[in-house]
Amino acid sequence: MKLTLRQNAIVSEIDRCGVVADIGCDHGQITLGIVLRDLCDKIIATDISPGSLEKTKRLFEEYGLLHKAEFRVCDGLDFETPVDVCIIAGMGGLNISGILNRARALPQKLVLQPMRDTQTVRDTLLTLSYKITRDFTVIDKGRKYDIITGIREKGIGNRKRTAPQTIPFSLTSVP
Ligand SMILES: C[S@@+](CC[C@H](N)C(=O)[O-])C[C@H]1O[C@@H](n2cnc3c(N)ncnc32)[C@H](O)[C@@H]1O
Repeated sequence: MKLTLRQNAIVSEIDRCGVVADIGCDHGQITLGIVLRDLCDKIIATDISPGSLEKTKRLFEEYGLLHKAEFRVCDGLDFETPVDVCIIAGMGGLNISGILNRARALPQKLVLQPMRDTQTVRDTLLTLSYKITRDFTVIDKGRKYDIITGIREKGIGNRKRTAPQTIPFSLTSVP
């Protein structure tokens, strides 16, 4: 299955790991792309819409890969299984921020692709003690998509930052 430039840029942010969750998987193309590249031991495909999740199930069935995924109808990260990397792509930034703020547990790494309100997503990542390690725009068929990767500081649990934040960008001094 050939991924679009946007989908490929999202998948490329994942290093091989144990468990990946694809929140709001819909058609399941990103989810399947991760499994076909053997980037994790297990993938959790979730969507708030049963009809959308069904599309992902059908795609995995078509590829004979149903055994490689768990399928869950749920709101965002409202499940117990620990996850190493979580993708939330193709939704508005306010929705993504809401999902992260309501999460039962947060993964060490997030790959986010908001359709709008990107700055709100960056602010939420920093508030939840993530360091933004990659932040770039991909142009796919003339449309721009922001992709943001965050890594969480260890030992934080679900605690939000209370100390002042350091914004992870460096300044180059001009002579
Ligand atoms: C436009 S699709 C994006 C599909 C895929 N992630 C991508 O980027 O190609 C957005 C999906 O997010 C789902 N969604 C919206 N809010 C959600 C939430 N709170 N929890 C889980 N899924 C959600 C929708 O049902 C829809 O299937």
